[in-house]
Amino acid sequence: MIFDTHAHYDDEAFDEDREELLASLREHGIEAVVNVGASIAGTKRTLELTRRWPFFYGAVGVHPNETAELDEEKLEWLKQVSAEPKVVAIGEIGLDYYWDDPERDVQKKWFDRQLELAREVGLPVVIHSRDAAKDTLDMMKAAKAGEIGGVIHCFSYGVEMAREYLNMGFFIGIGGVLTFKNARKLKEVAAYAPIERIVLETDCPYLAPVPYRGKRNSSLNLPYVVEELAQIKGLTPEEIVEITNRNARRLYRLGDQ
Ligand code: NI
Repeated sequence: MIFDTHAHYDDEAFDEDREELLASLREHGIEAVVNVGASIAGTKRTLELTRRWPFFYGAVGVHPNETAELDEEKLEWLKQVSAEPKVVAIGEIGLDYYWDDPERDVQKKWFDRQLELAREVGLPVVIHSRDAAKDTLDMMKAAKAGEIGGVIHCFSYGVEMAREYLNMGFFIGIGGVLTFKNARKLKEVAAYAPIERIVLETDCPYLAPVPYRGKRNSSLNLPYVVEELAQIKGLTPEEIVEITNRNARRLYRLGDQ
């Protein structure tokens, strides 16, 4: 069954039908979901989801564009909740120069501190990096992130960058963008990266695959990504589902189902 390694079901886009939708996932072949915190409030909601749904896990952390809210006390709180049994990662953390807010020094400071936190508590990291390829890589190398481990979520760079992160031992997160007509670069990365190092993700409610591009995304759309990846890799959809599920369990250090 499919493992969705990156979702935001706490988003208000799901307020109307969250219970119904989440209750239907398992019967549609979704085995597990990691809900990823993007802010302190989002991390709180993520923890609630992991308590409510047996097949949900959580990542706790603050997205680069939300780091203005961070202080020592909130970082300490993140450390406390990272000890909860269903918390499997620190994330999403990183750098986002597309939105470029707050200023880069603030983003960098808290990226570094959250990398440090992951090392301290012994959890992998979920990295968000947009239009910030060089700084992200430099900071991760300086922090010896290879020893921490994790995933570059919604991978948006080229093969050269993919090589760097693969060498560091990281997984590459791939979602709906793979099905877009203009996704040549990501298709190259998907062809280049060993299948053992690719994990599936939705980033829902964002980034729905074709034929639902622009609509609200959910884990139910992952078969479209599986189909595309199967073609690129010359494998069957069943093989893609099985291998990426195993990868996700390795990434988040969960036992086999
Ligand atoms: Ni995300």
